This record gives sequence, structure tokens and C-alpha cells, in this order.
Amino acid sequence: MSGLPESTPASATAARPAAGGTREPLVRVEAGLPASWYLDEGHHRRELERIWHGNWIAVARWDEVRSPGDFRVVDIGDQSVLLTRNQVGGLRAFHNTCRHRGSILCTEAQGRLRSGRIVCPYHSWTYDLDGRLQSTSRRMPTADFDPGEFGLFPVAVDTWGGFVFVHLGSVPVQPLSGALGWIPSTFANHGLDRLVSGQRMIVDVQADWKLVCENFCECFHCPSVHPELCRIVPAYRRGGAWGLRRDEQGRPVPEQTREYRSDARTLTLDGTTRVAPFAGLDDTQRATLYLPALLPPNLFLNVHPDYVNSHLMFPTGPGSVRIVYDWLFEPEALADPRFDLEHYVALWRLTNEQDARNCEWQQRGIRARVFRHGVYMPQEFDCHRFASWVREALDSPAIGQCPI
Ligand code: FES
Ligand SMILES: [Fe+2]
Repeated sequence: MSGLPESTPASATAARPAAGGTREPLVRVEAGLPASWYLDEGHHRRELERIWHGNWIAVARWDEVRSPGDFRVVDIGDQSVLLTRNQVGGLRAFHNTCRHRGSILCTEAQGRLRSGRIVCPYHSWTYDLDGRLQSTSRRMPTADFDPGEFGLFPVAVDTWGGFVFVHLGSVPVQPLSGALGWIPSTFANHGLDRLVSGQRMIVDVQADWKLVCENFCECFHCPSVHPELCRIVPAYRRGGAWGLRRDEQGRPVPEQTREYRSDARTLTLDGTTRVAPFAGLDDTQRATLYLPALLPPNLFLNVHPDYVNSHLMFPTGPGSVRIVYDWLFEPEALADPRFDLEHYVALWRLTNEQDARNCEWQQRGIRARVFRHGVYMPQEFDCHRFASWVREALDSPAIGQCPI
């Protein structure tokens, strides 16, 4: 197959579906993103600027900064963000950068601030939990210095579903609620905001963040990659999960009980459950064993009636990511001494490993000098939708219809 040019006349972009376009199978094979976008350092910097530093990014669970004085540092590309909770319990986010001469402030990923103050490790400039400069030890006073002008650089912060989000843009283009779309209403009864992590795994994957997103967008690979998952969701053996359709707004269509093995009650290796379903679910929601959700670029949710497997993904370069996997439960379930954590962790640990391995193989194959771009099959309509979202974010012309 010959490659396509990476840009086309403006008229070609008219045929490109908007990111909010069809969720039906594609009626033609569509070209994937250019291979260079998964490899090139310069392009990666463009994505950091336009996508990762221009959107709400999920960075932590709420209880990672549970009490006043707790802190958490998260890296989004080359940007380091400091999360704190102030004296009245309000969540705060700042660039992890001192206003004196720019040192990072917190050198550990997580901890507790001594005396409830943020103290720079270099010359000890000290800030309160709201980022106000409190003291500049050993500074010789001059009339021109106003401490009020040297507070920490604030970062927009908000929460949904127990996840902490930050936005590194100077003015967020839309509130978090707007970015979340259909997700909050779909999970309104699941009580995600009170779930706590029973298990966390942090894994470095040698694959570009877009490949990981695309992998999450399709189940075309399920028959060959996820035999264990297919045992519980036999519909996935058809390689497209047709029964798990979405409505026009992108919401998963409920009434999916026939898609699961008849005796399954949740997504575990054998389909059995060990804890009660989430308290707020109705009958249909209890019978809906799997609701996936992707909030690009970095939050993935596998939501089940009694637990959630979440992924927070962070780019560590072009062609590499760090993924933080959590298994979230109602606190009452975790408090039960008979709780069988491994029963719940096993399926997604295996499935996530399978996905990561395939993304790494894909990343290696894309390097072939003759490979210009992949192609999306009809079932991979959500990959195409994601690719359209990336293109729009980068404001790049579409590369047109695949010639095959
Ligand atoms: S750089 Fe922070 S006190 Fe000097
Ligand atoms: Fe997968």
C-alpha cells in the first residue's frame, strides 16, 4: 500500500467526521494517524502543548491528598504540578516551582508538609497551603519587594467521581463538567466519588499514549488477545462487541445482559462476585456488568456493578507512558476482613498486561521506515473518532481516505 501525504487540500477536510460524529461502524476503511506522530520528539512536544497542557487531565484520587498539609506531585509531560489541601480542606494545585529562582518545591511524589507550609529546599522561601508567600528567610529588605506578588503559580483544579483533575492552560477553555460529557450522568448511581483504591499498580509501557487510547477504543483485538475476558463477555469473541453499542451521545446502551455469560455477575476471571453491588444501582445497572469509558487523553474507566478498574496515563516521551492502574471499591467492602482482593484484581491485571504488551509490539512495528500509517477497520470506529479528536486538537488537516 502506498502512503498518503500527511496533508491534503483544505477541501478534503470537509469529509472528516467531527470528533463527536458517528459511532456506527465505518462505511469505509479509514487512514490512521501518521506513523511519525507516534515517534517524533517535535510532534510529541506539540501534543503536550495542545492536548496535555490544554485539557483537563485526571491526575490522582481524592484521598491521595486527604487532609490539610498532605501533598502530591504529578508530572504531565515536563510540567510538575503540586496538589495540596488547605487548612479548610480545599483542594489546591500549583506549579511545583518556587517564585524565587525556580527550584521545584516538593521533591517527593507524595507526603505531608511539615508545619503545614511549603518550604523551598533551595533558599527556604516559604508558602502557605493557599500558595501565598509567607517568609523569605535571610532576605535583606528592600522597599521594592512585595511578597504579595510572589505567590505560587496557581493551576486550575477540580474533581469528579473521586478523581482530581488539573488544567494547565492559563484560562481553562471549559469547565470540567463540560469536558466530561455523558460520563457523569451514566455513572451517577455508582457512587464513584466515595470509592477507594484496594490495589494500585504503576507500569511503564513503551508505547505512545495514542496507541494506548486506540487500544482502549476497540475490541477488534479481543478474540486474539483477551481469551479470559472473552469467556465472561462472549460477545467480544465476535471481535467488535456489537452488542455494546453506544447511543448518539456516546453513552453505552444499557440492557446488555445477553452479552455476558449467563451466570456472570461481574467481570472477574470466573464471573463470580464477592461483594454487594454498589448501593445506588438500579436493576438494569446491576445487570450491566461492564461500562467502559474513555475521557481523552488519559482517564480510562472499566466500571462494573461492584468495582472499578481505572487507568490514569501519563506520557513520559514520544513512544512511552506511565500508567497508574487502580482497583476501586466501596470502603465497606475493603473493610471486611474476608474481602478477597485477588479475586477482583486478577482479570484486569491480566487483561491490562495483554493490552500493554500489544501496544509495545505495535510501537516497535510502527518504526518500519516503509510504514506511513495504519488503517481503521469498520469496527474500529471509536479509534477513528479518537484520531479525529487528536487531529482537531492539533488543528491538522486530515490525510484523507485510505486508498485500499
Ligand atoms: S529557588 Fe526557592 S528559595 Fe530560592
Ligand atoms: Fe484490550
